[in-house]
Amino acid sequence: MSLQNIVFLTGACFLVCTVSATNERLKELFSWKTIDFDFPDEATRAKAIESKEFIKENNLILGLERWKDKLFVTVPRWKDGIPSTLNYISLSESKGNPSPNLKAYPNYDLNNIHKENGTKIVSVFRINVDVCDRLWLVDTGLADILGEGKQISTPRIVVIDLNTDKIIKEHTIAKEDITENSFFANIVVDTTPNTCDKSFAYIPDLGGFQMIVYDLEHDESYKVKHHYFYFDPLSGNYNVGGVNFQWTDGVFGVALSPVHKEDGYRTLYFHPLSSTREFSVNTKILQNKTTASSSYYEFKVLGSRGPNTQATAESLDEKTGVLFYTQVNKDGVGCWNTYKHANEYSADTNDIVATDSETLVFPNDLKVDKEGYLWVLSDKLPVHTNKGLNPEEVNYRIFQTPVKEAIKGTACDV
Ligand SMILES: *[C@@H]1O[C@H](CO)[C@@H](O)[C@H](O)[C@H]1NC(C)=O
Ligand SMILES: *[C@@H]1O[C@H](CO)[C@@H](O)[C@H](O)[C@H]1NC(C)=O
Repeated sequence: MSLQNIVFLTGACFLVCTVSATNERLKELFSWKTIDFDFPDEATRAKAIESKEFIKENNLILGLERWKDKLFVTVPRWKDGIPSTLNYISLSESKGNPSPNLKAYPNYDLNNIHKENGTKIVSVFRINVDVCDRLWLVDTGLADILGEGKQISTPRIVVIDLNTDKIIKEHTIAKEDITENSFFANIVVDTTPNTCDKSFAYIPDLGGFQMIVYDLEHDESYKVKHHYFYFDPLSGNYNVGGVNFQWTDGVFGVALSPVHKEDGYRTLYFHPLSSTREFSVNTKILQNKTTASSSYYEFKVLGSRGPNTQATAESLDEKTGVLFYTQVNKDGVGCWNTYKHANEYSADTNDIVATDSETLVFPNDLKVDKEGYLWVLSDKLPVHTNKGLNPEEVNYRIFQTPVKEAIKGTACDV
């Protein structure tokens, strides 16, 4: 492309494009060409490289969550050579370092799938920290997904106490609730500071087109079926980072409203990935195994965001009511204000917070933390899985911005 063409295209965009093609709102905090780790010691590191237990280029960050000084970052085992799937960055220690090493959490040993015995966390996608200082995750148990696919353990829910760094609960998802195509890449926890022991977790199954509900108090889980958990066959085409591909991912993004004063339950917002629609259901329906699977009309269609608006993760800010979600076909982040536009979900009430075809290629996860910051992670995942990433380019980025600044001047502004 000649310089003239670039100038022409940019000029045309100023006149025609409704959405700014630059990202002025999200502030880049970290970026990496390749991901590296803090190993327990140099000998362990050298041995991991020698034995190919650590292959730098195979490590792709995917999920994120913030708790106090820790920014948790997951590295799913798409390929071999991942030393640790659950990790964190210390925000205070990494000040001034844009590309910090990841530290295994709770420790290297628990993330080491090559040791013979004991509990191991095999592969984790998205995680959730609740208001009771606990980290919740689903360990899919599957390593080398893009290669041979080694099922090291059965999928299970793991809860870690962040104050003691100890696993306090492990719950294996029942065999009869897992389909041949089940894939657990996300989790959202429903609890309050007064009901920590009575928590529920909702786990979308993007390949099984169902939702797993986990009841902590009774240590019981069950599946919920609904048509709205399926993908839309007209929304499965993607163009990301120069790669065209088709995905059939069903229910994927999940986020919770504040507790309703009327009934003490929340609204669970959800959407399939290959879809442009948003749905919701009252958690009262989900928390009862019987009603969860026999209440077709209790699941609501909120509306459509418009063409090309497929989204992976979503997260809700309780203060402003803004529901943020990724925009994978638009290299961006979108928003909808659940308070202001409670009765209208449409292309008019949804807006774009940021879009950037260089830095926001495949925004894979986002979270609003307890202090009112929006965190966004982009990682070029389809390029990684289809043709491999160029280790000489910046491939992974993490952004942090106050929610207030992220929504300023958008349809989601309060
Ligand atoms: C693993 O467990 C078996 C059986 O309990 C034991 O015999 C073996 O020594 C253990 N191996 C390691 C490396 O701890
Ligand atoms: C669940 O819902 C069913 C059907 O409405 C009802 O009979 C049952 O009592 C409920 N269970 C609980 C624990 O509330």
